[in-house]
Amino acid sequence: MRQRNIKNLQERIEANSTHLIREPKSFKGRWREAFGNDRPIFLEIGSGKGRYVMARAAKDASSNFIACEGQENVGLRILEKTEEAGLENVRVFMEYIHDINDYFDEGELDGIYLNFSDPWPKDRHAKRRLTHRNNLRSFLKVIRPGGTIEFKTDNDDLFGFSLEEIRSLGCEVLEVTRNLHGEDCSFTSQEFMTEYEERFLAKGKNINYVKFRERANDGPDIEGGDQ
Ligand SMILES: C[S@@+](CC[C@H](N)C(=O)[O-])C[C@H]1O[C@@H](n2cnc3c(N)ncnc32)[C@H](O)[C@@H]1O
Repeated sequence: MRQRNIKNLQERIEANSTHLIREPKSFKGRWREAFGNDRPIFLEIGSGKGRYVMARAAKDASSNFIACEGQENVGLRILEKTEEAGLENVRVFMEYIHDINDYFDEGELDGIYLNFSDPWPKDRHAKRRLTHRNNLRSFLKVIRPGGTIEFKTDNDDLFGFSLEEIRSLGCEVLEVTRNLHGEDCSFTSQEFMTEYEERFLAKGKNINYVKFRERANDGPDIEGGDQ
């Protein structure tokens, strides 16, 4: 997400820091303390300006949400909006996650959202994609058994790649579609739009979506990219 430079960035961050986590790695294994309760915790990696995570948090006060955004000048928007909305169940940190195990203990999260993640289109950069199997394997480790990963993207190639990675790990696919906003699609995720999603949808682009989890047993799988 490109964002112009912001004047007085550090001062503005400081002025909107109620929900900011300054040293996120120090919370590994004790994220519940950051919220002061034992409610489920969901993480969005690459939150942009935070529209999605804020909508989720506003709708579900009985869960906690962490927005992670690597660019400070973009993450500032989440801090400002969270401050203004007074959302007690949101925490924000502004770092690029390289190894999620530095931030979370095994099973500490209830779910992860990956929305319009950077596509890294060159083959030689495939390992940088958040949906590369190495990354997915790490993500699944920090999610409790039964917890899910949800992924949305406008990028059809990235989606095809991601489905292969998900299948290579033997995950259970719970929901999948190549057209999240199509007439015959009724997944909850439609309700929570991201900034990129709104932009691509306005241009008539189909939005790809998949929700999956580690397979617990030999449960059924939904194959294919259509509903
Ligand atoms: C294409 S934008 C999408 C933003 C938002 N999710 C949306 O759908 O509108 C991707 C964002 O993810 C952030 N990002 C990419 N990799 C990241 C990582 N490993 N950790 C944290 N943020 C990341 C980028 O800085 C960028 O703002």
